[in-house]
Amino acid sequence: MRFSSKLPDVGTTIFTVMSRRAVEEGALNIGQGFPDYPIDPRLSEALTEVIAEGRNQYAPMEGVVELRERIAAKLERSYGRPIDPHGEITVTCGGTEALYDAVQAVVGPGDEAIIFDPAYDVYEPAVRLAGGRCIRIALTPPAFGVDWDDVRRTVTDRTRLIIINSPQNPSCTVLSTEDLDALAALIRDRPITVLSDEVYEHVLYDGRRHASVLAHPELRDVSFAVFSFGKTLHATGWRIGYCVAPPALTRELRKVHQFNTFSIVSPLQYAISRYLAAKPEVAGGLAAFFQAKRDLLAGLLRGSGFEPVPAAGTYFQLVDYGALSAENDMDFADRLIREAKIATIPLSPFYAAPPPMTLLRLCIAKQDATLASAAERLRAFAAKHARG
Ligand SMILES: Cc1ncc(COP(=O)(O)O)c(C=O)c1O
Repeated sequence: MRFSSKLPDVGTTIFTVMSRRAVEEGALNIGQGFPDYPIDPRLSEALTEVIAEGRNQYAPMEGVVELRERIAAKLERSYGRPIDPHGEITVTCGGTEALYDAVQAVVGPGDEAIIFDPAYDVYEPAVRLAGGRCIRIALTPPAFGVDWDDVRRTVTDRTRLIIINSPQNPSCTVLSTEDLDALAALIRDRPITVLSDEVYEHVLYDGRRHASVLAHPELRDVSFAVFSFGKTLHATGWRIGYCVAPPALTRELRKVHQFNTFSIVSPLQYAISRYLAAKPEVAGGLAAFFQAKRDLLAGLLRGSGFEPVPAAGTYFQLVDYGALSAENDMDFADRLIREAKIATIPLSPFYAAPPPMTLLRLCIAKQDATLASAAERLRAFAAKHARG
């Protein structure tokens, strides 16, 4: 068969690679971002109920109305702004589909999209499939801060999209309101849309508050904001997310969505809607829940040679193994799978041109016993391989 690949250099994602290696080697998987504890039984009960009640046919293309109404109410509580559930919210197959649809809606052949490395891995392929090109700005550890003057110098007449992600996976940093102000000033009067990946909107630590584009007086009119119930309800396999955008952008996004997935699993949408009706404040406890896990893991690792890097948000924790080895992160992560029987995620695959660093990403959305066992394996490995 003769054909040419549209993404010839793209292989399997680092998450799949590491999870597969974890299975092969019988390793504890603390790499890929998914909880190892059950969802709230009331959420599973709601699903059983709605299926028995017959909610089993196509959902509306835009998403189940009552779910969109609950999302709008939640967003208004969080970001102090009314959102029209009919014209501004679209339910998608996870945050991933929302990101893909938004890119296809606004990027065309020859267009440029600016993204920040270390970047979540779905952004660039989506831009390339739309015929566009990603301009990648590398953020440097450990602060991973954005230099907005640098971004200004990177913007060209072809820039159509800037993709931001806060709290940011995998750096565990967050953008401030001042960052959003700088971004707004930079794109003012330019034909540039913002795609804001906010799937960790509720997971900020130490009293920080999430700076959403939805709460920003200028950005909210020029942005797609992407969210995920996978993260908020500890149900990554349900694949329910949503995109919020002003009506004109939502119309364009829906043109892609309706020919991509058309509509999303209806019983799951009804179940989430019913669950949110009973527990509207479900997201309220997430930051404290994950902060306790971050503190547990960081406390167990401090001084071990796997040094925790301060984390401001997301459900990950970076560790620096520089005191143990100068090996590159891909090789070192594979060695950990083989020798310590623990799977982590190296950071270099999130960069186009990785700076020198010795960082691994650990997922803290795990039972405390899993985190303790992970720390024990890492400490044992470190004790065996301590330098000098
Ligand atoms: C930064 C970021 N964006 C988007 C997603 C995708 O979310 P979903 O699982 O809802 O598709 C993830 C998932 O890990 C993520 O970490």
